[in-house]
Amino acid sequence: MAKTRVEHVCTDCGASHPKWSGQCASCGQWNTLVEELSSASTAPVIAPASSPVQPIGDVDPQSSVPQPTGIGELDRVLGGGIVGGAVTLLGGEPGIGKSTLLLQLLAAWPGKALYVTAEESAQQVRLRAERLQAVRPDLWLLAETAMPHVIAAIEETQPEIVVVDSIQTVFDPELGSTPGSVVQVRGCAQRLVSEAKRRGIPVVLVGHVTKEGSLAGPRVLEHTVDTVLAFEGERHHALRLLRATTHRFGPTNELGLFEMVGHGLEGVPDPSQLFLGDRRTGVPGSAVAPTMEGQRPLVVEVQSLTTPAPPNVPARRTTQGIDGNRLALLLAVLQQRARIEVQQQDVYASTVGGVRLVEPGLDLAVCLAVVSAITERPLPPDLVAFGEIGLGGEVRQVAHTPRRLSEASRLGFRRAIAPRTAPDPTDGTLRLLRVGTLPEALAAAGLIA
Ligand code: TYD
Ligand code: MG
Repeated sequence: MAKTRVEHVCTDCGASHPKWSGQCASCGQWNTLVEELSSASTAPVIAPASSPVQPIGDVDPQSSVPQPTGIGELDRVLGGGIVGGAVTLLGGEPGIGKSTLLLQLLAAWPGKALYVTAEESAQQVRLRAERLQAVRPDLWLLAETAMPHVIAAIEETQPEIVVVDSIQTVFDPELGSTPGSVVQVRGCAQRLVSEAKRRGIPVVLVGHVTKEGSLAGPRVLEHTVDTVLAFEGERHHALRLLRATTHRFGPTNELGLFEMVGHGLEGVPDPSQLFLGDRRTGVPGSAVAPTMEGQRPLVVEVQSLTTPAPPNVPARRTTQGIDGNRLALLLAVLQQRARIEVQQQDVYASTVGGVRLVEPGLDLAVCLAVVSAITERPLPPDLVAFGEIGLGGEVRQVAHTPRRLSEASRLGFRRAIAPRTAPDPTDGTLRLLRVGTLPEALAAAGLIA
């Protein structure tokens, strides 16, 4: 019998501690340590050496060339496609569309595919597959939670790609502990990683992200898998965003966009149109920014609303789609460097369309939206603005200016407030208003004299 030991494992980051405490010493989260009994066999498995020592020039680079999945937005995020032998974890909240996306992936796959459902019955998956028009002869289905059966099914069907939905509901009786625990999630994932490597086939795992942290989250597997994809969006919005947070075979800054429609997820080829679709011009508190997400230009609207804060209460700062700390910093710069009175104002700021942006080029548009809200002066409808704001109130250069400008111009914008050092636009229809400081930008936008 395997020797068991007690450990205290963080369900958020997976760190193991000999003693229980209220806070994980590794990631700093509170109340995430749970007691787990683990058998000695959960010690990390070292894959048997399958290749000899060889000169680097002899290694075949073709073996890790990505194969397009047939789903354009997924390929964009993965840097061209999925790699044989690679394990990808698709994380997201329940109901966001993980099972839907992966069923569509398997439907589009050119060879034999195995879908292991450890959550839904085979009938439920079949019904969904019909809705997605994913029923095809080479798509195999296994409704099973026990790992030995999953491995046996892989052996039996010899698929060219495997999806396991989800890693928190499969269970290996040899490992002890309960399904969804860190020990189980890690052990089962390691088992599937070695299957993927041995067979040279891609394996995709679904990982639920739960706010309560009752299940071991995807972070526990960050170092076990090759790629971690985060699927997000607001449940009540049709828009879904796909990003790679870890990716051994390519960049991690590409954004994939989908829309959940009646027959599954559809790629969004022209997101800027979608984001600007409902824009009302001439309203104070709205500014438009040409931003970049990876290699993709996205023109988005930033909105702000300000109201005087009640006396003796700290002013509120509420954001959606924008980093709250970034907004706080920008407000401090507005106060100190542009003498805009924001201290006694409750400030709300959001991006439109449910898109979350972390790009510094958005700074200037956030500032313009806030000042437009405070002064109740709308910005000109044909104006965009971009640039990073420094603590000294300077407007700094950001990357990819030509692509930002051509996307803005394509959408009909005619003027752009840009950092002083911005290169000339290639397209003659857009006029650049170059500014060096935040007050200059506010003046160029007509918000202050
Ligand atoms: P699902 O893929 O089951 O989410 P997850 O696996 O991440 O839990 O998607 C669930 C939601 O998607 C559900 O609320 C219904 C909706 N949906 C559609 O709107 N259209 C569709 O074609 C499908 C299959 C699902
Ligand atoms: Mg699901």
